[in-house]
Amino acid sequence: MKFFVDTAEIDAIAELNDLGMVDGVTTNPSLILKSGRDILEVTREICALVDGPVSAEVVATEADAMIAEGRKLAEIAPNITVKLPLTWDGLKACKVLSGEGKMVNVTLCFSANQALIAAKAGATFISPFVGRLDDINLDGMDLIADIREIYDNYDFDTEILVASVRSVNHVTESAKIGADVITAPPGVIKKLADHPLTDKGLDAFLKDWAKTGQKIL
Ligand code: E4P
Repeated sequence: MKFFVDTAEIDAIAELNDLGMVDGVTTNPSLILKSGRDILEVTREICALVDGPVSAEVVATEADAMIAEGRKLAEIAPNITVKLPLTWDGLKACKVLSGEGKMVNVTLCFSANQALIAAKAGATFISPFVGRLDDINLDGMDLIADIREIYDNYDFDTEILVASVRSVNHVTESAKIGADVITAPPGVIKKLADHPLTDKGLDAFLKDWAKTGQKIL
């Protein structure tokens, strides 16, 4: 399963990238706002840092304008993935931009039917938002399992990019279901290394080591 980082913070991306943990990056208008950076400038920096796909989202809502914005974003670097919302106009733009050979990430997916229609429109990635479904007392992971089954039934190439990941359990469940990619905030990715028994065990080892009076270096 590939790991994308869901942020526009360069330092956080660089830290994880140095560890080989970054297969791609996703951004959205809210994350650009949070970064305080210019979208074109920060996206160019991210594309130079990371080899994998970097999603940059259009903000137009009508197909022709989405296509124009998508083409402009795609000029930033060859690893740009144009991110389009799952609306009828977004699907029209997806068909055109994917037909031009551009990578497209169809975002704000909340149902299996939306995922099905995005695959038919040529999406490279579909982004179902699990956390936001959990927020309204639905089970986001059920949607991932449904999309996996549907895509496998028909051999769709569209990759399932689990988005709105809020917990380490979302990551485990995504991997068990066989999602292609998760995109998570840096904090969630770093938490994957945590276990209280690791901390407790290390503490005990270090206390015993101190009692030996020895040094390795
Ligand atoms: C995905 O591409 C989105 O940027 C993101 O995962 C949304 O997450 P949120 O629901 O926590 O805002």
